[in-house]
Amino acid sequence: MDIKHPKDSKTELTDLVLPSETNPINNLFGGELLARMDRAASIAARRHSRRIVVTASVNHVAFNKAIPLGSVVTVQAKVSRTFKTSMEIYLDVWTEDRESGRRLKANEAIYTFVAVDDMGNPVPVPKIEPETDLEKERYEAALRRKQLSLVLAKKMDPHEATELKALFQ
Ligand SMILES: CC(C)(COP(=O)(O)OP(=O)(O)OC[C@H]1O[C@@H](n2cnc3c(N)ncnc32)[C@H](O)[C@@H]1OP(=O)(O)O)[C@@H](O)C(=O)NCCC(=O)NCCS
Repeated sequence: MDIKHPKDSKTELTDLVLPSETNPINNLFGGELLARMDRAASIAARRHSRRIVVTASVNHVAFNKAIPLGSVVTVQAKVSRTFKTSMEIYLDVWTEDRESGRRLKANEAIYTFVAVDDMGNPVPVPKIEPETDLEKERYEAALRRKQLSLVLAKKMDPHEATELKALFQ
């Protein structure tokens, strides 16, 4: 399988915040943002693997800034690291200043997707090689995040999470 780069999976979804998508104080409803991020991440995972992909876990979501009604919101997704059958997808969310058009960072999230065959069985995905400094940083940290996710899901013994443990030693 050919080695790919994060840019090969880059996916951007841009949309408005409409009244039906807001909470009682007129900011984007968290579940709506999660759904937009899931869609963008799913397309990025599909672009990387060219397979059917399913969401395995949502590892991290930070709703750092409220996104008001009427905002133009861009969700950018890129595969940050691959393992055997799973892919970590890093999401960056921006709003757009109406007058200057400048992008303002609003949120970040990290999802894990798994490539599967027609029967839903996990299948291998192409390896990935990060290129930019940010991509390299995210690639390096992804193994610790995978171990944390597996430990929390009770799919890994904490004693086996060596890279994660090293953070605390
Ligand atoms: C995700 C799913 C395919 C994993 O299947 P499984 O039988 O657990 O298979 P495995 O144990 O071999 O895990 C497959 C990969 O997922 C990873 N994985 C599983 N659970 C994970 C979790 N909670 N966090 C991070 N990675 C996880 C495994 O580490 C493995 O990665 P690797 O092959 O790259 O090392 C299966 O649980 C599933 O189909 N879940 C439902 C998915 C779904 O419906 N999503 C929402 C709608 S799309």
